[in-house]
Amino acid sequence: MIKGYDKYSFGKKLSEVVSPARPVFSIENLIGRSDELNRIEKALFSSGRNVFIYGERGVGKSSLAATAANQWQSSDAEYLDISCSPDSTVKSIVANIASQAINTKWSSSSIVTEQATVGMKWLSYSLKSEISPTDFSTRITGLSDAIEVLKEVAAIHSDVPIVVVDEVDRIASEKEIDLLADLLKQLGDKRIELKFIFTGVGATLNEILGAHRSAIRQLETIELPRLSWDARWDIAIQALSVFNIEIPRDIYVRLAAVSDGYPYYVHLIVEKLLWILFENERMADKVTWDDYFSALDEAIVGITAELARPYELAVNQRSQDYEEVLWSTAADEWQGAYLSDMYKQYKNIMSQLEEKKPLSYEKYSSRLRNLLKPEYGEILKKGKKQGNYHYREKMLRGYIRMQAEANRIEIISKEAEATIKNYIRVPAKNVGYHRHKSQAPRG
Ligand SMILES: Nc1ncnc2c1ncn2[C@@H]1O[C@H](COP(=O)(O)OP(=O)(O)OP(=O)(O)O)[C@@H](O)[C@H]1O
Ligand SMILES: [Mg+2]
Repeated sequence: MIKGYDKYSFGKKLSEVVSPARPVFSIENLIGRSDELNRIEKALFSSGRNVFIYGERGVGKSSLAATAANQWQSSDAEYLDISCSPDSTVKSIVANIASQAINTKWSSSSIVTEQATVGMKWLSYSLKSEISPTDFSTRITGLSDAIEVLKEVAAIHSDVPIVVVDEVDRIASEKEIDLLADLLKQLGDKRIELKFIFTGVGATLNEILGAHRSAIRQLETIELPRLSWDARWDIAIQALSVFNIEIPRDIYVRLAAVSDGYPYYVHLIVEKLLWILFENERMADKVTWDDYFSALDEAIVGITAELARPYELAVNQRSQDYEEVLWSTAADEWQGAYLSDMYKQYKNIMSQLEEKKPLSYEKYSSRLRNLLKPEYGEILKKGKKQGNYHYREKMLRGYIRMQAEANRIEIISKEAEATIKNYIRVPAKNVGYHRHKSQAPRG
């Protein structure tokens, strides 16, 4: 039980404080990104400059973009919000921006809208004929049309209009990326005050924009790292404190470690944790290890199939020794890990399992190499150096860590040991809790 809440009011409040399935859009809920927000603010002040946020999948790009846009969009309108798809073009993006700008105007009042668009070639036309963004986009014949449309958008939308263009990396055509770069340059040259915040998934800007980076001068590029340790636990502490629940340091440090810096995992575990506390018989005021491990089990079950599937493929093999091999890959550094180091981790893991014998180095290596294959979930890919491996999808590492931890296996990364004073080891032996084997995704 949680004091002062029935199920309905609890569920409602909970969705305000944790949101594993949607980006954060308010400054109170965006944790650990004040430096980035600061840089974005300065860029937006500077005429002709726009922002590009890039980073690994799931680190919080859309959240940063949405929060920044909410912060700096003037209060007379909502910011404009565009999502890219593989077939997005500059024309389709511009048409969508125009149609959103017009729609927000319409919803205020048609007289205001009509007045605002007097003398406008593009937007008044679209208003009268009520055409769809797709039709609108076919009328835009070239870059100069696009610029004019955006000029009109900037004039009617609001005092300080901001446009978020999410997931630019999804645009398949390189030609369109080139055009987008040209568009930004010309917007700057023509002093059209429409500010863009782009996001893209990728480790480097080159990966997203290719060699076509002529617009680089117009862009403030922000590489978004994983969340820092204190931001990770601040999310948990803050969410729990809304319900007057305390979380001991030992537990929040473990939670931070297991999340691997991905806010998604922190949100997911805390959401499950709060439901468990709510449904407990006793009145909850403090998180226990039992609560934490139950939440971890439920978080694993609730994880998106996209992440769970490769894990299942890898462990559902005839020989029943892949799961420990998989866990041993999860202690690596962000930059990838060497086979010999992973084998050390593996031996450390096996020493925690009394009933199992470790594989020889040769057998271990061959299992590990199998993890490169699609039929084993394609967990890893080869690094540039001999014997070095990376995750194909970095976010998987957090999932693998959660699995290991739910099995009471302690994985200690060098990063954790180096960063956290009095690093807390998982109290496997003294919690007196046994994992239900049925939850392990073994065949
Ligand atoms: N700074 C933050 N503080 C608290 N929660 C955050 C923060 N950043 C992101 N989140 C949460 O983490 C999850 C993932 O965030 P978001 O969708 O912004 O990531 P993303 O990088 O855009 O992911 P993708 O690459 O999948 O589009 C969401 O649940 C969001 O609520
Ligand atoms: Mg996103």
